[in-house]
Amino acid sequence: MLARVYSCALTGLSGTIIEVEVDFSSCEEPKTIVVGLPDTAVQESKERVRGAIKNSGLRSMRNRITVNLAPADLRKEGPCFDLPIAIGELACRDETWIPELDDALIVGELSLDGSVRHVRGILLIAAKAKEMGFKSVCVPACDAPEAALIPGIEVLPVHSLLELYNHFIGEQRIEPQQPCELTETTVTVRTDFSEIKGQEHVKRALEIAAAGSHNVLMNGSPGTGKTLLARALPSILPRMTLEESLDVTRIYSIEDMLPPDIPLIRTRPFRAPHHTVSYAGLVGGGNIPRPGEISLAHRGVLFLDEFPEFDPRVLEVLRQPLEDKIVTISRATGAYSFPANFMLVAAMNPCPCGYYGDPNHNCTCSEFSIQRYQKRISGPLLDRIDIQINVPRVEYEKLSGDTVGEPSAVIRERVEAARERQRVRFTGNPNVTCNSEMGPAEIRQYCRLDAEGEKLVKSLMTHYQISARAYHRLLKLARTIADLDASPAIQTRHMAEAIQYRPRAKN
Ligand SMILES: Nc1ncnc2c1ncn2[C@@H]1O[C@H](COP(=O)(O)OP(=O)(O)OP(=O)(O)O)[C@@H](O)[C@H]1O
Ligand SMILES: [Mg+2]
Repeated sequence: MLARVYSCALTGLSGTIIEVEVDFSSCEEPKTIVVGLPDTAVQESKERVRGAIKNSGLRSMRNRITVNLAPADLRKEGPCFDLPIAIGELACRDETWIPELDDALIVGELSLDGSVRHVRGILLIAAKAKEMGFKSVCVPACDAPEAALIPGIEVLPVHSLLELYNHFIGEQRIEPQQPCELTETTVTVRTDFSEIKGQEHVKRALEIAAAGSHNVLMNGSPGTGKTLLARALPSILPRMTLEESLDVTRIYSIEDMLPPDIPLIRTRPFRAPHHTVSYAGLVGGGNIPRPGEISLAHRGVLFLDEFPEFDPRVLEVLRQPLEDKIVTISRATGAYSFPANFMLVAAMNPCPCGYYGDPNHNCTCSEFSIQRYQKRISGPLLDRIDIQINVPRVEYEKLSGDTVGEPSAVIRERVEAARERQRVRFTGNPNVTCNSEMGPAEIRQYCRLDAEGEKLVKSLMTHYQISARAYHRLLKLARTIADLDASPAIQTRHMAEAIQYRPRAKN
């Protein structure tokens, strides 16, 4: 007798349908064999399945059981095949309900007592099941709210093996999971912009960065508030659309990083990896590749504090995803792509002692060591950072004064209004959602300058060495500044402000 159960394996950021074939034949010695490139977790599955069937009060078969996971050439990881294997075995015994299994996709890890445990990547699995036309997807009960985010497929929350068995034999049907209410989560930020004294021009730069998702580098002496400003940034970032939320949730779902009882991520990620982060930790890696920090920061912020302390070779790999907004990792089994559309925010001191250029503090570094320190950030990487600003020391009067700055909520309103203008502009263009994502075609269409602006850029191009990329980035930045100003055209003052944020290498 042969039963076929459908399940799903995670491959990068998508799922692949796995056919779990269970066959039993009579034999003197009861035995279970699993074939089809299973890893150790899958191999151990037969022990869990045997225990779960026995402890659920269902009789285990005393036959030779062969389980085949097809397609055989795909590596399968993890314990999510326990439940489909167990159901397959039970179906072999009863036969009558085998046809029912054709419409369902089943995933779940089993405990020895027969209860069904959480598996990662449920959002992707449910999406795959819907795409492949399954009528229902049977998932661990604790993961059902996450699966129910995908509309148009019936989600069955399964608490135990016995419950699913009773469902299939028609004894007691499982009630489908209702889609959860999508409530707006409030952002809990440690620092509000109003608590940061002075630094008006840095706040303005961060507002522009948030409005168009531009990359920022803050440079300044120790204790001037760089880390503080960066950590306050999430409080002014625009809210995510539902599509963006699903995009982010997919990544956190396969990484098993969804907060308990929050099936959908509604706030933009803010990732701040330490400077000792490895290549694989930053861009992603592993045998079956998993996303790295740049993908976990997708649609949000990647904050690299103490920028020059990062291994230069690790930093250089950022160059490609910063342009393409996607990272591809090649393995013998194929190429895996992860989205990596993040806003880079970096902070650094100007020299090893930290006080180079500080009017109130002597720098003790040699010219050579300053140069060597600054060279740790390569030209091509700097070229990709649209906004580069100095963060000066705040005067005592300002720091000790009672003047309260503008609250984050007010700044965020302006940022969102500017984003809305961008959304309207790029409606119908699936590749671009904000100004920083514009390609040459969009730049030509939306970043026209008036005669005076043209003159300004021309004089800049002749006086300073400006690459073609820097020129395009300048136009995009000016577009965002104009959007914050609710101006349909880029005016000279917008261009002039954008130029201030660009580093200039003299000819
Ligand atoms: N503008 C400011 N308004 C209010 N508090 C500030 C300001 N700047 C700095 N501080 C205070 O100083 C502390 C240190 O600031 P922060 O850690 O951001 O400095 P930094 O520029 O990152 O320094 P380093 O270069 O050493 O990393 C903050 O936690 C805050 O208490
Ligand atoms: Mg700091």
